[in-house]
Parts: sequence; C-alpha cells; structure tokens
Amino acid sequence: MKISSSSAVCFFISLLLATNLSILEAKTCKPSGKLRGKKPPPGQCNPENNSDCCKDGKLYTTYKCSPRVSGRTKALLTINSFEKGGDGGAPSECDNKYHSDNTPVVALSTGWFNNMRRCFQNITIHGNGRSVNAMVVDECDSTAGCDSEHDYQPPCPNNIVDASKAVWKALKVPKDDWGELKIHWSEA
Ligand SMILES: *[C@@H]1O[C@H](CO)[C@@H](O)[C@H](O)[C@H]1NC(C)=O
Ligand SMILES: *[C@@H]1O[C@H](CO)[C@@H](O)[C@H](O)[C@H]1NC(C)=O
Repeated sequence: MKISSSSAVCFFISLLLATNLSILEAKTCKPSGKLRGKKPPPGQCNPENNSDCCKDGKLYTTYKCSPRVSGRTKALLTINSFEKGGDGGAPSECDNKYHSDNTPVVALSTGWFNNMRRCFQNITIHGNGRSVNAMVVDECDSTAGCDSEHDYQPPCPNNIVDASKAVWKALKVPKDDWGELKIHWSEA
C-alpha cells in the first residue's frame, strides 16, 4: 500500500508534537507519590495558627520538585512559628536552631529549598501591594508528612513560602487575614 505524502507529513508532525510535549512535561513539576494520612495520636499536631492536621485515611500528594523559579515566582504564603514549642515542630533545618517569630524567616517547599542550597539566602516576598525580605531557614517538606517528625501535618504543597508572623506584619496584612495569601517571590 502506498502511503500518501500527506499522511506521512501528518505522522511527522505528530511525532514532533509528542517529542515537544514530553520535553515540556519534564520541565513541569509532577507529583512524586501519595501517602495515606494517619490520625494524630492524642497530644500530637498543634492545630494553632491554621496548621493542618492529617486526617485518617485521606490521600495526600507528595512532590520532590517545585515550580520553576523565575523573577516572579508565584507561591502561597502560609504562617508558621519557628520558635520552640511553636507549630513548626523541630528546630529549623538550615542551622538546627529556633528563630524568633519577630524576625522575617521562611521555610520553602522541598523543591525550592533545593537540598539546603537556599539556606540563609534572602528572598523578596511581594504581596498585599508591599514587599519584604526574608531569610530562608527551613524546609516545608513536600515529600513526607503525617508522622511524628512532621507533627502529624500533611506533606507541604510544592509552592509554599511558610513565613513567620514578622513577614505577615511587614506586608501589613490585617491580623484576621493571616493564614494564606497568594504572593510572588524572587531572589533578593
Ligand atoms: C500562633 O500565633 C501567635 C501570634 O501570631 C503566636 O504568639 C503563637 O506562638 C503561635 N502559636 C504556635 C503554636 O505557633
Ligand atoms: C540576608 O539578610 C540578613 C538580614 O538583613 C543578613 O544578615 C544576611 O547576611 C543576608 N544573607 C545573605 C546571604 O545575603
């Protein structure tokens, strides 16, 4: 059978498209897996300040990557305590220390934290029509959660800037609205 030249062209175009698509996919961040939530044992998971606690049987998506960093990286700002006894749990990963919530410090999702490579770097957070510089001191773990190490909190989404209250104050977000805010950030 003779293959018409137009169907041959069609074939090559679809081949080209498929190759391009797989290149695109490699650039976007896809989930690395799922984990099933366990109910926090009594006294575990400090639900203060909007911290989320794992729900029994619920499936949570995990990520080893985060969206690509640009000069204007979109993210979700959340609130965290970096103090001893706060909802952040363990000391910060970068220096194994606690930090005052009156200093502008943040934890970044695993992909952006980039194996400690962003430790002590400053990022500029733009939100609520203002901007503030904050230092990266911790990881918001997107790869694991719902265990004692993570205070029975779910894995972090892959686009989180988890900030001390000093950051929220500097952005002049009214206290009642502290919790979640769409922002963008850049390297300072
Ligand atoms: C919750 O936030 C308040 C003030 O914003 C802070 O004083 C307190 O330590 C936080 N609690 C926890 C458990 O992080
Ligand atoms: C980040 O900012 C803090 C406070 O302004 C400063 O002490 C620190 O040196 C900065 N870090 C880097 C890597 O520039």
